[in-house]
Amino acid sequence: MFEKKSGVLLIAGLFFFGIAFLSNGLVPILMYRNIPEKKAEELVNGNLRYQFEDLARRYPESFKAAFGSPPEETPKREAWLNQTCADALRVGRSVYVGEGCWHCHSQFIRPVSNEDRRWGPVSKTEEYQNELQRPVMFGTRRVGPDLCREGGRRSNDWQAVHFFQPTLLSEGSPMPDYPWLFDGAPDKPNKRGLALIAYVQWLGSWLESYPYYKDYQASNVKDVELK
Ligand code: HEC
Repeated sequence: MFEKKSGVLLIAGLFFFGIAFLSNGLVPILMYRNIPEKKAEELVNGNLRYQFEDLARRYPESFKAAFGSPPEETPKREAWLNQTCADALRVGRSVYVGEGCWHCHSQFIRPVSNEDRRWGPVSKTEEYQNELQRPVMFGTRRVGPDLCREGGRRSNDWQAVHFFQPTLLSEGSPMPDYPWLFDGAPDKPNKRGLALIAYVQWLGSWLESYPYYKDYQASNVKDVELK
């Protein structure tokens, strides 16, 4: 067998497959087997709430039509916003999956090729230990940029206009238009549109590097009136 080059290559191939299976499959399974998978409700954080409430202020009618109005009293209102936001994340993720965004966008920053300088901190396994990562959206190829740190990079209205027609903001973009996420105009996102924006703003919102983090802490946006 070893007289032939192909025999050596076969053994080497099997060997490297085994190593990859160990390090990328078995080791993470053993590391995380006792850590419970987080539910969407546990993934709602201050940064995301900032964005979600911003959607409510920016698109009050669309928001109300999609999700209803929050109760007035504070504790109930908080609970309502958190639950609605968690539900929106689930819907947003299913839109992301259904529209095939993952054909063109990865959600995994590798520790090679200076990817962290382009997109932000290298991805860690623990970030994938939750409901919204089942199955993980690592992606198939990278026609567009990696999105796992997309949250807070652009404003909600930028995202809305870009989903409506990417070329309005990015000349020559090959990304398709998604007019069915809107009731006619880019300032009228429907439920699926709002949910997708919330989902995109969630990506990386758990990191300190999230751009709006400090603004949120300082601005007390929780007290802003929602209609
Ligand atoms: C045909 C490939 C393709 C598909 C499908 C696609 N995109 Fe894109 N996307 C791109 C490319 C290329 C860019 C960079 C140019 C631009 O900004 O439009 C981009 C840019 C983006 C950006 C802006 C990133 C930034 O901050 O610069 C976001 C967010 C985004 N896409 C989300 C999505 C979502 C969500 C979907 C599914 C609804 C989707 N894309 C589908 C190719 C694609």
